Amino acid sequence: MQHPTKTPLSDALRRLVGRPVADIDTPALVVDLDAIQRNLGRMAEFARKHNIRWRPHAKMHKSSAIARLQIQAGAVGVCVQKTSEAEAMVAGGVHNVYISNEVTAPAKLARVADLAHAVAAENGQLAIAVDSLEGVRRLADAMNERRRGGAGAVIDVFVEVDVGGGRCGVTPGRAGVQLAHEIRRHPALRFAGLQAYNGKAQHLRTAQERHDAVGIVVQDVLFTRKLIEAEGVPVNLVTGAGTGSLVCEAASGVFGELQAGSFLFMDADYAANERDPAQPQFEHALFIKSQVMSCGVRHAVCDAGHKSHAIDSGLPRVLELPATGALEYFNGGDEHGILRPAGDNQRVPALDDVVWLIPGHCDPTVNLHGFMIGVGGGLEHGKVEKIIRVDARGALT
Ligand SMILES: Cc1ncc(COP(=O)(O)O)c(C=O)c1O
Repeated sequence: MQHPTKTPLSDALRRLVGRPVADIDTPALVVDLDAIQRNLGRMAEFARKHNIRWRPHAKMHKSSAIARLQIQAGAVGVCVQKTSEAEAMVAGGVHNVYISNEVTAPAKLARVADLAHAVAAENGQLAIAVDSLEGVRRLADAMNERRRGGAGAVIDVFVEVDVGGGRCGVTPGRAGVQLAHEIRRHPALRFAGLQAYNGKAQHLRTAQERHDAVGIVVQDVLFTRKLIEAEGVPVNLVTGAGTGSLVCEAASGVFGELQAGSFLFMDADYAANERDPAQPQFEHALFIKSQVMSCGVRHAVCDAGHKSHAIDSGLPRVLELPATGALEYFNGGDEHGILRPAGDNQRVPALDDVVWLIPGHCDPTVNLHGFMIGVGGGLEHGKVEKIIRVDARGALT
């Protein structure tokens, strides 16, 4: 199995455990462990209420330790997008993994087949998405090659339907029927159901827009499912949904599994969505701790630029604290952030002031860091409880 290079845990980081938050050097990726637990509890309760399972996306946190926390809280396993992310999860002891994405390169499929066998040996299960006949055949070839000489594992295979995202997936309708039949021809593959994820729906700002978009998703799924079942093939599970739309999929009566991932950390972009009243009140749990290193008359400069956080979904927001008041963050380049007082606040931050940035987009922000520093007892007065390795950092293959 291939693994991304592991960043060694430095002595400095090791010594941080048990120390006050004030001792965390900046810039640093910090997670609020209490907020994570609250978000997990809210998700578990939501899923219970809707009688739906959740297999959260680990592409977001890229950490097998966090995946294990999610499973402890009731998740059935995790989703990943990449073979190497799946390898990192399995190496970290997570044995129910769904690669919710197409993998078509034969060299990668050989690794997928290895993983299917590795998790089966632990009573786990690997799953994968497909959207082409050629993809199904290549997957079957890789599984058969790995099985040669004895009984072997079976991989769960979901047919992805393009339900409006315009990315991967077959057009709703007969193409799904053909793929389901092809999957069932291969003893090492098991037709597991349909994947229906619309990424474009997640950040539609109003709840009504997201409901309308998922309304179309549900029609596409029902249409495809009906055609498949008309041929005597049961569609046992429909899986999908992100943090923006999960209330709609959960209420649809069609989805059996939620894949939302970002709810755990809640980035600034998701917080800008109008919250559907039915959606649990997820809170921010991922921050960049940063410190003021230079002061002007009307602005201050902090030590976190876009090498510390991704800016593809907008600049970070600054957590408002009594010590600093409301601040706005402006782009200062790779290593700097420009801070200006916002709203009624008149005070320019002073040298050494600490600011907590809420990243615009959690997934690519986490991928910039080798570790997350886990804090308990709050950001201002808490302590470092653990260092969490981002074990799938840079896992792109
Ligand atoms: C296939 C799939 N499922 C689920 C998700 C989770 O979405 P989010 O992290 O926005 O909740 C994503 C995110 O891009 C995805 O690509």
